[in-house]
Amino acid sequence: MNFNSPLYQMADAIDAFPPYVFKFKHDFKFDTWKHKVDQYLDDVDELTKSNNLSDPEADGGTTSVHFNFNNLNAEKFSWYGSEDYGKMHKYGLPSQWPELKEFYDHLDHMLGYIQVEWGSRAEWRRFVSENWINRHPKGAWTREHHHQNAAFATVAYLDLPPNSGFLEIRNPLENLKKGETIDGMYWTDERNWGQVECETNDVLVFPGWLSHRTQKNETNDNRYVLSTNLQFATKVQEEAEIKPPIEREPVAPPWLVGKYEELQREQKREEAGGALKDSDIDKP
Ligand SMILES: [Fe+2]
Repeated sequence: MNFNSPLYQMADAIDAFPPYVFKFKHDFKFDTWKHKVDQYLDDVDELTKSNNLSDPEADGGTTSVHFNFNNLNAEKFSWYGSEDYGKMHKYGLPSQWPELKEFYDHLDHMLGYIQVEWGSRAEWRRFVSENWINRHPKGAWTREHHHQNAAFATVAYLDLPPNSGFLEIRNPLENLKKGETIDGMYWTDERNWGQVECETNDVLVFPGWLSHRTQKNETNDNRYVLSTNLQFATKVQEEAEIKPPIEREPVAPPWLVGKYEELQREQKREEAGGALKDSDIDKP
C-alpha cells in the first residue's frame, strides 16, 4: 500500500471500525539476553531436524514453536526438561523467562484495552497458550499461516535490522474484492497482501484468524521475533486457577553447560568476588 500517494495528501483515510492490527513499543534490551535465545534456537534446530518436524519456516528460518508441545524422542537430547507444559526445554518457554516478565506485564496491560475495543468484556481472563521465538538469517522467511484458536496473536520485534523484511497480512475482505470491478493485475501484484512496517522493539497485536506471512530477510543480520498466542479462559479453566506462566515452577536444572550458562556463571563468580564451584552456582 502506498500511503504516501497524492490521494492520502488530499483526503483523510477513514475506517469506521477498530483496526485488525495494533502496534505499540516495548524496550526489550535484547542485547543483554541474546545469547540465551541463540542457544535455545540452536537446540530446537536439532529437535526439528532429527524429528523431521514441520512448521511454516522456510529457507533457513528456525522456530522454537516445537517446545510448546511434547514431541517424540525428546528424551535423548541433553537439554530435555520434562513432559510438563513449558518444560520441553530446560529453559521452559519464553513467557516463563525472567528477562521477559516486564514485557508480559506490559502486554497484559495493553490487551486489556484491545479486547474491549474488539468487543470482549474487560473482566474476561486471558492466558498465554503458546509462545516461541523465530530467527531468520539471510534468505529466511515464514510462509502463509494463521494462529487457529488464538484470540490474540502477538509479534514482538526483538531485533529487526533495517531492510530485513516486514510482516504481511492477507486482506480478510479479499473475497469481496472478487465481486468488485478491478484489474486482474490486482491479484498478480498481490495487492490482497499488505505489509506492516515496523522497527526493533515494536509489538503487534492481531486476531489469530488473520492470515499472515513474512517477507524474506535480505540482509546479513539475523531477524529475531517473539510470538505469543493468547486465548480466553473458559469456565473450566477459570476453576482450575490458571497461573501466569512466570509463576509456574522453575525449569529443570542445567546439566548441559551452554554458552548462556557459561556467561551466567561468569557473572555470578564476578558478583561473588571469588572462586565458586559450578555446582554451587547452579543451585536454585
Ligand atoms: Fe504467525
